[in-house]
Amino acid sequence: EAYDAGEHDSFMHKEMLEQPAAAERVLRGRLDDRFGTAHLGGLNMDARETRAIRRVKILGCGSAYYVGQMGAALVEELARIPADAEAASEFRYRNPIIEPDTLYVAVSQSGETIDTLLAVQEIRRKGGRVIGLVNVVGSAIARECDGGIYLHAGPEVAVASTKALTNMFLGFALLALQLGRVRDLSIADGRRLIAGLNRLPEQIQQVLDQEDALAGLAGRLAEADSLFFVGRVRGYPVAREGAQKFKEISYRHAEAYQTSELKHGPLALISPEVPTVAVVPSDELTDRNVGALHEIAARRGPLVVVTHEDVDLGGLDVDRVVVPRNERELDPILLTIPLQLLAYHAALSLGHDIDKPRNLAKSVTVE
Ligand code: AGP
Repeated sequence: EAYDAGEHDSFMHKEMLEQPAAAERVLRGRLDDRFGTAHLGGLNMDARETRAIRRVKILGCGSAYYVGQMGAALVEELARIPADAEAASEFRYRNPIIEPDTLYVAVSQSGETIDTLLAVQEIRRKGGRVIGLVNVVGSAIARECDGGIYLHAGPEVAVASTKALTNMFLGFALLALQLGRVRDLSIADGRRLIAGLNRLPEQIQQVLDQEDALAGLAGRLAEADSLFFVGRVRGYPVAREGAQKFKEISYRHAEAYQTSELKHGPLALISPEVPTVAVVPSDELTDRNVGALHEIAARRGPLVVVTHEDVDLGGLDVDRVVVPRNERELDPILLTIPLQLLAYHAALSLGHDIDKPRNLAKSVTVE
């Protein structure tokens, strides 16, 4: 069957709206409520090998790298294994130390990104174990890895990746669940996460249903030449991905910062002409995040706040985007969806080619 944009003005729009169905596909058949774990046969590792992993290193480029940061947080929170993400394009040039008890994870929609592929080859040449979180079946990265998790997002045509990224996040959640359950994650916590994962497709749909309101906000953001996207800890990779999407298709300067770093420099740039999109989930950092919003408001910086219903913004005059709450570990993906819609509608209001932004290719196959 031909894959076309159908009634949508662009593939990006179609692909954003496909996210609830794509999310169901990546989860299907992989959740085991009886043992509160995930089954990922494609990893090609038994429980003893899985248990022997001491560190997780995630490699990807662009948005895949940012979702990799979300994935590292999931692994650390659920499995309590040190984990971090790195830009695959930098990795092999710093002569990385490859350790036998580290699990390397290459993450890529296309499976053809040259920087990620070369990182995989460098690791394998030095005897490391690499698994792939890849969307395109049989792609170069998928073939080069020792095992992996296919993302089942379906074809993705728009340069600005959406549904593949959501499924990357879910792939990391499955991996973290499996790694956690051979360690200290309890069966009760495993089941809590499974219930949360099963709620996600419907909650993603609830965010997508806010498209009209987000379109209005996006039109205003598009008028600015420069914007900040801010978040902390779990929210920081969300802000990075939001800024990435915005700059890719709106061509506006969009810079991501940790909210906590604003006072160490970027606050100097806040003014009525420079809006900030702030990611403020209901979590242990809410009060500090709200404090930073007051600093921005005091400089008359316009604010769009992506947040949860129960967050008290202390009477601040902001545009508020409310997303449903899930388990705190899974919240980042729900906070990411409105940022896709903001980028898309900003680009649309500016009359840009949504699917083929200038200077960019869908997959980067030359170094
Ligand atoms: C996403 O919107 C970007 N177009 C880009 O950053 C992309 O995620 C990156 O090039 C990695 O691509 P891959 O997932 O196919 O490896």
